[in-house]
Amino acid sequence: MGYARVRSIGLVGLEGHAVTVEAYVAPGLPTVTLSGLPDTSLNEARDRVRAAVVNAGQEWPNRRITVNLLPADLPKRGPGFDLAIAVVILAAAGRLTLRALGGAALIGELGLDGQVRPVRGVLPMVAAAARAQIRRLVVPADNAAEALLVPGVQVRGVASLAQLIDFLVAGVTLPVPTTETDEEPEDDGPDLSDVVGQERGRFALEIAAAGRHHLAFLGLPGAGKTLLAQRLPSILPPLSDEAALEVTALHSIAGLLPAAPRLIRRPPFQAPHHTATAAALVGGGSGVVRPGAISLAHHGVLFLDEAPELKPHVLNALRQPLEDGYVLIARAQGSTKFPARVQLVLAANPCPCGVGAEAACSCTPLARRRYLGRLSGPLVDRIDLQVTLAPVSAAALAGPIDPPESSAAVLKRVIAARAAAAARWSGQAFEVNAEAPGRVLRSTPFRLPATTTAALTHDLERGTLSARGYDRILRVAWTIADLAGRTVPNKSDVDEARQLRLGGIA
Ligand SMILES: Nc1ncnc2c1ncn2[C@@H]1O[C@H](COP(=O)(O)OP(=O)(O)OP(=O)(O)O)[C@@H](O)[C@H]1O
Ligand SMILES: [Mg+2]
Ligand SMILES: [Zn+2]
Repeated sequence: MGYARVRSIGLVGLEGHAVTVEAYVAPGLPTVTLSGLPDTSLNEARDRVRAAVVNAGQEWPNRRITVNLLPADLPKRGPGFDLAIAVVILAAAGRLTLRALGGAALIGELGLDGQVRPVRGVLPMVAAAARAQIRRLVVPADNAAEALLVPGVQVRGVASLAQLIDFLVAGVTLPVPTTETDEEPEDDGPDLSDVVGQERGRFALEIAAAGRHHLAFLGLPGAGKTLLAQRLPSILPPLSDEAALEVTALHSIAGLLPAAPRLIRRPPFQAPHHTATAAALVGGGSGVVRPGAISLAHHGVLFLDEAPELKPHVLNALRQPLEDGYVLIARAQGSTKFPARVQLVLAANPCPCGVGAEAACSCTPLARRRYLGRLSGPLVDRIDLQVTLAPVSAAALAGPIDPPESSAAVLKRVIAARAAAAARWSGQAFEVNAEAPGRVLRSTPFRLPATTTAALTHDLERGTLSARGYDRILRVAWTIADLAGRTVPNKSDVDEARQLRLGGIA
C-alpha cells in the first residue's frame, strides 16, 4: 500500500496551470483508474504509461492503482501528463522516491518504447510554472531549449523514462541543457527599398504601422498590393518582452517553434491563402486545440490577400476575434481562449475577373459591386485605411531612380509616432490611435476645431460620409500628425486622411 504525489503542468488555451498528479496503490485486482476529468488522450495515457514502464525495464505493479489529477475542475488535455503519471505510480508502489526531484514539475509524453516525446506548448507551461513559484522542471529533452526561454527556472531535459528512473533511484545526473543566448538574427525579410514610387501606398503603410490601423489595399493586378503589404512587419516596432513571450508561446502550442527556438521579437506576419478553412484561420483541432492564423498573428499582422475570394463563412469567423481581440473555440469539455490582437491588412482586386485594365474587364457593374460587397459589414467597418493603388508605370520601374527609402528609416518615424501617441493616451484604456473610440476623439480635450474638420462636416451634411467614416478619418488624422511631429492634427492632416479614404470599399 502506498501513496505518492508529483507536480505537473496543464494547459488550457494559452494558460498553464499547476496540476498535482497523485497515485494510490493498494492490494486487490490489478486495475488502473484515472480520475480528475481526463479526456480521451488521458485514457490512452493509461496504456502508454504501462508499456513505457515495462520498456524502461520496470515490472508493472500488478495491484489496484488509482491515479488522480487535481484540481478536478480543470480540463486536462493532451499527453503531457504521461511522465508524471508513470513516475508517481512507481513511487506509490515503493519502487523509487521522488525526493531528488526537489519539488520539480514533470512534463512529457511517453512513447510505448519508454522514450520521452516532445509536447506542444512547453513555453506557456513553464511560464505558468514560474508564476506559480515552481522553479524546477523536468521536460522532454527536445523541449529543454524552449523551456529555457523562461527566465529564472531550472530546467532538466529527459530523453527516456529509464533516464529519469536512473536519476531518481541511482542519482545519475540529468544533463544540463544549453541556452541559446544570442538574440534573434537581423533577418533580411522584404524591405521597402524594393518598392519604386508608390508614394501613397507607402504613406498609407507608414500610417498603418504608426497607428496600428487596419488597412485595405485595392487596385488592379500588378499594382503592388502584395508587395507593400508584405513589407509592413519591416516597419513595425519590435515586440516587448511580454508580447514576445506571448507570441512565442502561441507558436509553441501550434508546434511551430524550431529545435533551438528564440523569443519571437519581430511582429509576426501571417498570410493564409484564400482557400484556408475557418479552422485554419481561427484555430481548432482535437486534444490540445491549435491556434489558427489569427492567433499566430497576435501582436502582428494578419494579411488576407485576394480577400473577396475567401468563403463568406470564413470571413464571418473573423468577426468575433477582430471585435474582441481573442478567439473562443468551443469544445464539449469547455471552450479554449487564445489571444488574437492582430492588425488586419486586406488586398483586393476591384472585380472578380481580375483582367486588369477597366476597358478589358468583362464584369457587369453589379458583379463588381457584389465582389467588394463581400467584404462589407463588420470587417470593413473596422478598417481605418482603405487605399486604391495605381500601378507604377513600366517606365518608372525601368528608369533610373533614387534609391527608395529603406524600412529602417521609416521605422524610426513609426517608433517616434507610437511614443507620441502612447504619451497622449496614457491613462486611457488604449495606446494606439486605431483603438481610440470615436467618442474620445469627438470630445474635449481631443475634439478638433471646426475649421480643421470643415471638409468632413461638409461630407457629413451632403451624406457622402457616415458617422463611422468620420471617426475613422479622425483616427488617421491623429496618426498623420504624430508622424509629422505635430501635437494636434491641422486641417491638412485631416484633408490628407480624408483623401486616403476616397475610393475605399465603404
Ligand atoms: N512599385 C513597385 N516597385 C517595384 N516593383 C513593383 C512595383 N509594383 C509592382 N512591382 C512588381 O510587380 C509585381 C506584382 O506586384 P504585386 O504582386 O504586389 O501586385 P498585386 O497588386 O498584389 O497584384 P495581384 O492583384 O495580381 O495580386 C511585384 O512582384 C513586383 O515585382
Ligand atoms: Mg497580389
Ligand atoms: Zn472584371
